This record gives sequence, C-alpha cells and structure tokens, in this order.
Amino acid sequence: MLKVTKAVIPAAGYGTRFLPATKSQPKEMLPIIDKPTIQFIVEEAVKSGITDIIIITSHQKASIENHFDRSLELEMVLEKAKKYEELKLIREISELVNIHYVRQKEQLGLGHAILCAKTFVGNEPFAVLLGDDVVRNDEYPAIKQLIDVFLEKQRSIVGVQKVAKSEVHKYGIVSVATPITLEHPTAKVIDMIEKPKLEEAPSEFAVLGRYVLTPDIFTYLETQQAGLGNEIQLTDSIRRLAKDTEVYAYQFIGKRYDVGSKIGYLEATIDYALSRKDLREDFISLIKQRIK
Ligand code: G1P
Repeated sequence: MLKVTKAVIPAAGYGTRFLPATKSQPKEMLPIIDKPTIQFIVEEAVKSGITDIIIITSHQKASIENHFDRSLELEMVLEKAKKYEELKLIREISELVNIHYVRQKEQLGLGHAILCAKTFVGNEPFAVLLGDDVVRNDEYPAIKQLIDVFLEKQRSIVGVQKVAKSEVHKYGIVSVATPITLEHPTAKVIDMIEKPKLEEAPSEFAVLGRYVLTPDIFTYLETQQAGLGNEIQLTDSIRRLAKDTEVYAYQFIGKRYDVGSKIGYLEATIDYALSRKDLREDFISLIKQRIK
C-alpha cells in the first residue's frame, strides 16, 4: 500500500491581489495575526503525517526560506534577553519538517508549478496544498482527510466544498457520478472545468486547494496545452487523468478561508483573533466600540 509522505506547496505567484503589500514581500508571508499564512499550510501538512515538503518558489521569495530556517542571531538575542518562550517558538519553526525548494522560472500556471516538483516527488503519490486556501480543522486536518481517502482508493483525490453560485467562476468545478453529501462525501469525478461561467458549471462543488495526486499526473502535465488565461492548468491535467482512470472528489470538513482575497483574509483574521485566548476579550470589546 502506498503512503503519502511528500507534499508540494506552490508559492511562486506574484500576489497581485495584495499590492502594494506584495511588491517586495511574498504574499505567503502575510500574517494572520502573527503567523505567516504559509506556516498554517506547512503545519497542516506536518499534522497530517507529511515528512518532506517542497515549496515551489520564484525570485523575491527568500523570506519564505529564511522563515523556515534557523536564525542564530535572533536566537542569541532572545537567549540573552531570557525570552525563552519566543526562543522556543522560533526554533520550533525551523524544526517542523524537511523543506526543499525549487524555483519556477516562469509563471506559466499552477500545472506548470506542480510539474517543477517532478524530480522531488519521483514515483510516489503526493499531497498538494495551495497557500490561498487556509482550512481550519484542528482535530482532523483537511489534507489528512484526503490522505485517508487516498489510502482506501489508491487513486487521485481532489478536495471539494460547495460554493455559492456566484463563486463558481473562481474555481475548478467538478461533475461527479453520485451526489456528494455529508454521509457520502466521496464521489467519482466525471469531469472538471477550470473557472466556468455559471451556465457552464457542472455543479457547485469547487476544488479548494487540497489534492492528493498519483505520480502519473506528471505524464499529463508534461503534455498539457495552455488553457484558461493561457496558463498550464492543473485542472485540465486532472480532467484528462479522470478520463483515463478513476479520480475521486471528496468533500472535506473544515472552515476554509480564501486568504488570497481581501475579505477572506479579514475573515480569517477575525476568526483566529476570536479563538485566541490572549486576544479574544480585548478584540471583542474593540469591535463593540467601533460598531456602536
Ligand atoms: C486554483 C486552481 C482552481 C482551484 C483554486 C482553489 O486557482 O486553478 O482550480 O479551484 O486554485 O483556490 P487560483 O485561485 O490559483 O486561480
């Protein structure tokens, strides 16, 4: 039985939706309160049993590498100042997991970014986590849920949730062989369309940044023609894979935040603030004052 120990996190995009904050700083480093969004993603992978992560980067992403590296100078300063809690916190980040980096030299699309991980992944199934989708489920992380479905099916799995009709044009949308429900969260994928118009959308189930893929996906990615937006789309290759073999959609459980959008980013910030013991009370009274 094949296990899933590797994960790919694409982080090579320009982050144009968050300019000017992302002019010289990767969007993946924007914090939800005090933790960069990419750390949420890495921690989800680690909690799910992933031992090796490859982050697909581009130029101007050095701060991501620095974040997951040790910072001996800062450690020294904290140690001298007897700030042991902070010291522990930053050391733990560098000890989380093995992280590897590869650069995507041209931003040719998500499919192309995943293809950059081919040598690292080799002939194993692997997880993909997109940084724009932060999913909250502290007990049972979203990617672990997908991995568990993979272990049973031994086929590629795409993580989906239902989105509003007005939102289908933002996502990869699946059509499935059997209805997806809470009792039956897994269904065979028949088709998949990248960012369809509402009239063309085969359902309201959107792929929300979590995948477990079998390595044969690379064969499809290598021959993938550019699709929507003239980009090499991962959706188009999974679609072809689903025509040749079985691919499953699985409705994962967890609150998902689109931190790539401003309102989703604010929503995540509010929810995380409300769930933080050290902030909750002050934050509530602050909001109460403001909306009076
Ligand atoms: C990507 C994928 C899309 C998926 C989405 C989830 O789009 O291409 O299929 O539904 O992520 O966030 P992007 O948002 O990067 O344009």
